[in-house]
Amino acid sequence: MELPFAESYKIKMVEPVRKSTRAEREQWIKDAKYNLFNLKSNQVFVDLLTDSGTGAMSDRQWSEMMLGDESYAGASSYYKLKEAINTITGFPYFLPTHQGRAAENVLFSALIKPGDLIPGNAHFDTTKGHIEFRKASAVDCTIDEASITTLDHPFKGNIDLKKLEKVLVGNPVEHIPMIIITVTCNTSGGQPVSMANIKAVSDMARNYGVKVIFDAARFAENAYFIQQREAGYERKSIREIVLEMFSYGDGMTMSSKKDAIVNMGGFIALRDQELFREASTFNIMFEGFITYGGMSGRDMNALAQGLYEGTEFDTLDTRIKQVAYLGKLLHEADIPLQLPYGGHAIFVDAKRFLPQLPKEQFAAQTLAVELYIEAGVRAVEIGTLLADRDPVTRENRYPELELLRLAIPRRTYTNNHMAYVAAALINVWKRREKITSGYKIIYEAPIMRHFTVELEKA
Ligand code: F0G
Repeated sequence: MELPFAESYKIKMVEPVRKSTRAEREQWIKDAKYNLFNLKSNQVFVDLLTDSGTGAMSDRQWSEMMLGDESYAGASSYYKLKEAINTITGFPYFLPTHQGRAAENVLFSALIKPGDLIPGNAHFDTTKGHIEFRKASAVDCTIDEASITTLDHPFKGNIDLKKLEKVLVGNPVEHIPMIIITVTCNTSGGQPVSMANIKAVSDMARNYGVKVIFDAARFAENAYFIQQREAGYERKSIREIVLEMFSYGDGMTMSSKKDAIVNMGGFIALRDQELFREASTFNIMFEGFITYGGMSGRDMNALAQGLYEGTEFDTLDTRIKQVAYLGKLLHEADIPLQLPYGGHAIFVDAKRFLPQLPKEQFAAQTLAVELYIEAGVRAVEIGTLLADRDPVTRENRYPELELLRLAIPRRTYTNNHMAYVAAALINVWKRREKITSGYKIIYEAPIMRHFTVELEKA
């Protein structure tokens, strides 16, 4: 008999979670102005809002916390982290930051000027926010296949080389400070970028004298997909694949809250000393001295350990199979999903789930509210609210994909929780035709509105 899949860990500590009634949830979500970010965590039973900073640290990470060196300068924790980053990524220089967007803030302060263009694959919202805040533009060059949710393409995070070349040919290179490759591509559904694509983008960038920077939050999941799906990589270890991926770039920004499995932290890693020096000045201004940059020593220790664990095959195999388990339950019930399943999340195609809703009524957000009311499951909209307004015209941007993301925290929930989530969404699916109206905005911030938006029923 073939042995079934089982987790590569056992549980040593638990945190109780509380169920609630439908009536309670209806009131809470109304009080939260139909914005799931406004809910209190104890109003949520299964929290799939994000996989960011919500993972469970290992016993080894917790023991590393006790060894943290809290010296202001030159702490041993800094050197421990430096060695881990150098071993895993191959980049010689690094700066700690308090999270991923802080790394963007520091690095982009050194690289981006007003009027610049930054091509890439569906930039994440904070990345785009930091670009647009500097009066520059993010140019999305993701392959068209990424927005056809029914199409089972192995590397939907890939960059379309023709689209990229058009940007490079059509604009002065002084205005293209870098190309950003997001691995995996969160916005298109946690979809990986192939090694062949990374290499081709890097070759093209080098021809034009443009830098390649990775937005590397989920780099290890990307490496796992390369190992599983790309010819020639089946026998390579995750660490070998990671080293090859980064060898094609000039640097990376990292949200350590994802694949490094810590609750808080980030970093920048770079190949070039000159750029490292420039970025260091901004790091000192915004984050902290270059040997702690917004992180305590104990957190740097846990992060160093997390980088090793997060790039182990068993950790990734357990995680990605759990995500796929949820995906399979939903797919078998005919719920429209972004295929193939993502690395960190399942993305439900809200346009096909609720085709009756006009685009102005935020189908994915409507679905998020329905799922919460159904069972206390918190997911997140990756659609029109997140896409924000065009910074110049101030018109709403309606993205190709209107998705509801069910992000799975690492090592946190069991497969029973996944089955619970699937049953809840299937219940909503069965009553989908009765959902005839969505939401309208009553308050929004000028940038990154989805975090604080307030809504009412349309
Ligand atoms: N880049 C990507 C691809 C991300 O997914 C995130 C965060 C960031 C950068 C920013 O990192 O949160 O540490 O400042 N994504 C989270 C999410 C918030 O839910 O997907 P951060």
